[in-house]
Amino acid sequence: MTRPAVVAASSSDIDRLAEMQANCFHAPWGAASIAKTLSQPGAFALLLRDSTPAGRVSAGFVIVQVVADQADLLTLGVVPGLRRRGHARHLLGDALARAAGQGAKAMFLEVAEDNLAALDLYRACGFATIGRREGYYRSPEGRKIAAVTMRRDL
Ligand SMILES: CC(C)(COP(=O)(O)OP(=O)(O)OC[C@H]1O[C@@H](n2cnc3c(N)ncnc32)[C@H](O)[C@@H]1OP(=O)(O)O)[C@@H](O)C(=O)NCCC(=O)NCCS
Repeated sequence: MTRPAVVAASSSDIDRLAEMQANCFHAPWGAASIAKTLSQPGAFALLLRDSTPAGRVSAGFVIVQVVADQADLLTLGVVPGLRRRGHARHLLGDALARAAGQGAKAMFLEVAEDNLAALDLYRACGFATIGRREGYYRSPEGRKIAAVTMRRDL
């Protein structure tokens, strides 16, 4: 398979972003929250896009906000069925480069402590654990789940 291109999302991609995020998370933000986030200074979204004859197909997304010299990775996902092909690593690499280009010196993120796939991904991409927040997330059944806070120099 040809590796999808990473492209910057525009306002016309909000609904597709919301759809993909709903496919990846049990508590998605919804299109209005995504639009609001992307209207903030320093925020950007990247998409993985195939150029297929049938039209665009997005495989994954990442949303980041850069404030002064710090970047926060707000959400990242690859649609089920297209995982374990290096797409998240590819997206994250581009997001790190873009955040650095906007002046960030470090990127921070929170990840649920039971999200082993994401923890492995972030460690593989150079993030290290710097803290923990008890009860930061809720499982679909309402169970409290701690967040692991991670950081990576840019
Ligand atoms: C986490 C997620 C983004 C990974 O996407 P992906 O495209 O499958 O990841 P990649 O193929 O780029 O994997 C890169 C590395 O991450 C780690 N990884 C990814 N999925 C993994 C899994 N299921 N189990 C263990 N490690 C995993 C591995 O180290 C992998 O490297 P390798 O394939 O050489 O072993 C994807 O599973 C997802 O969208 N999950 C739901 C949303 C989510 O949890 N987002 C992160 C919230 S903070």
